Amino acid sequence: MKRTAYIGQLTPTHAGQTVTLQGWVNRRRDLGGLIFLELRDRSGLVQVQVEPDSLAFAQADQLRAEYVAEIEGVYQARPEAQRKGGSADYEVIAGRVRVLNTAKTPPFELDRGDSVAEDIRLKYRYLDLRRPEMQRHLLLRSAAVAAITSFLAGEGFVQVETPMLTKSTPEGARDFLVPSRLNPGEFYALPQSPQLFKQLLMISGMDRYYQLARCFRDEDLRADRQPDFTQLDMELSFVDQEDVLELNERLMAHVFRETLGVELSLPFPRMTYHDAMDQYGSDKPDLRFDLVFHDVTDLFRGGEFKAFADAPCVKALVAPELTRKQIDELERVAKQNGARGLAWLKRDGMAFTGGISKFVSEQADALMTATGVPEGGTLLFSAGPWKTAVSALGAVRLALRDLFDLAATGSAYHVSWVTDFPQLEFDEDSNTWTYMHHPFTAPHPDDVALFGTERQGEIRAQAYDLVLNGFEVGGGSIRIHDPVVQGQMFQAIGFTPQQAQEKFGFFLDALTYGTPPHGGIAWGFDRLIMVMTGASSIREVIAFPKNNRGVDLMAEAPSPVERSQLADIGLHLIETD
Ligand code: AMO
Repeated sequence: MKRTAYIGQLTPTHAGQTVTLQGWVNRRRDLGGLIFLELRDRSGLVQVQVEPDSLAFAQADQLRAEYVAEIEGVYQARPEAQRKGGSADYEVIAGRVRVLNTAKTPPFELDRGDSVAEDIRLKYRYLDLRRPEMQRHLLLRSAAVAAITSFLAGEGFVQVETPMLTKSTPEGARDFLVPSRLNPGEFYALPQSPQLFKQLLMISGMDRYYQLARCFRDEDLRADRQPDFTQLDMELSFVDQEDVLELNERLMAHVFRETLGVELSLPFPRMTYHDAMDQYGSDKPDLRFDLVFHDVTDLFRGGEFKAFADAPCVKALVAPELTRKQIDELERVAKQNGARGLAWLKRDGMAFTGGISKFVSEQADALMTATGVPEGGTLLFSAGPWKTAVSALGAVRLALRDLFDLAATGSAYHVSWVTDFPQLEFDEDSNTWTYMHHPFTAPHPDDVALFGTERQGEIRAQAYDLVLNGFEVGGGSIRIHDPVVQGQMFQAIGFTPQQAQEKFGFFLDALTYGTPPHGGIAWGFDRLIMVMTGASSIREVIAFPKNNRGVDLMAEAPSPVERSQLADIGLHLIETD
């Protein structure tokens, strides 16, 4: 059973030749005694014509949608009147048809996959994956892996696999736990990332490591999250932040060039965490469009509008002309993101109308100059503590993007770096300081002295995120390689030396045996492919994903297990409601 080529590899040079093709029947139509078939393989579709008096007819007549067939015939141009340009101008006149397998009627029409409920698609994922769109996603994913692997091999990286059954790694999510049969009452944790292992590999002298690593995080699911997902994980010794960023820019440009034929311009723009939040209200700003915030705190200070007069921060955004309904909807978005409301003004000549206009007559001119709001345009305001004010307006900015399709105005892909994240974050719930990335991130050398002082919230981390079209597609840092600084970090987040030893003792020991300066990054590989393909969710680019309740509907996982299996691992289930 040898095929001449995949359908998508047939070119006009095959015209007039007899070709053998293998695939699935995409569609069958009977017209005027002729049978028209569409044969599909992973590379494309071709029309096959079967004439009533041909040897192929009896076999072809048995074919139905999704039957598996081998077709031998002459590849030729369609009649002139039917040509539209492209591969659809060619068809195969069948000489011989073999039915390789029959198929039950599929539970959904593959051609209409887009409009089928996702749960049905996921239950019959193997059929869903036959759809050209899904195959394109998986092929692009595979091409990206090939591009990454060859690039990193050329840069001297060593591929190392790290364990799946291990100890907790702190990436801020819950662990998936695996009970140990051989050690009753004890558990492994599935890795949230290979963080500690890759640092240990640097201590081992491996110098440059990478891995396409499966990671597991038990957290609430969203369109861009899965409980098990893949990272392109890497770590480098004897580097500073600049080295990591520069290498990753070249790698990302290589991946886009090799897989999509898209040239990204280098270097990627950089923005500090503070500026990203302050100007766009997000630590992963979508920079395909501008819509930058204007700081108008001082304009309102001590003024007539009491809600803004003593607000620590007032930010404004210039929106196009909006209806009341649209403003209400945007206000709902702002409130969902922590704001008390969304004040607004509409420019009408040299004055403002609507919203809070009766309170701003004093500021009208200054507001127009500061924001440049055009005639008919709407100004939207968010006020409050800095982080709340900017985050809420950041969500409004994204809602405006979706409302007016603002992203379509810019380049298709915008990659940037966000740098200088805070080292520590204050957690209001537990009333303690905690790490922002993970506790192994190195502080900026100029800020180390602030550990343990009132100003430790100002310590900048040598941490960076890679942002593509408003998605965080990667994150990393330079690591702490000095055990003393590592101790200061643990102290800052409230770990006693005993607690640190209990959790990460093996790692802390290793740090004392000659650790090189090192740093790295992990890309969210699924997320990257999602944005590259324009898919609407991460599930579209993962062959066998879980749905948004964490369930694999096809394999029916998770599922109950036998009592005897539980007994083996020393577990007893307690009934809950
Ligand atoms: P971080 O936790 O930022 O860093 O993860 C790196 C990248 O992984 C992606 N990601 C996810 N993708 C899909 N589903 C999820 N549940 C999920 N969680 C994270 C994101 C993110 O940017 N060890 C560090 C990396 C380092 O410091 O080198 C880490 O894991 O795109």
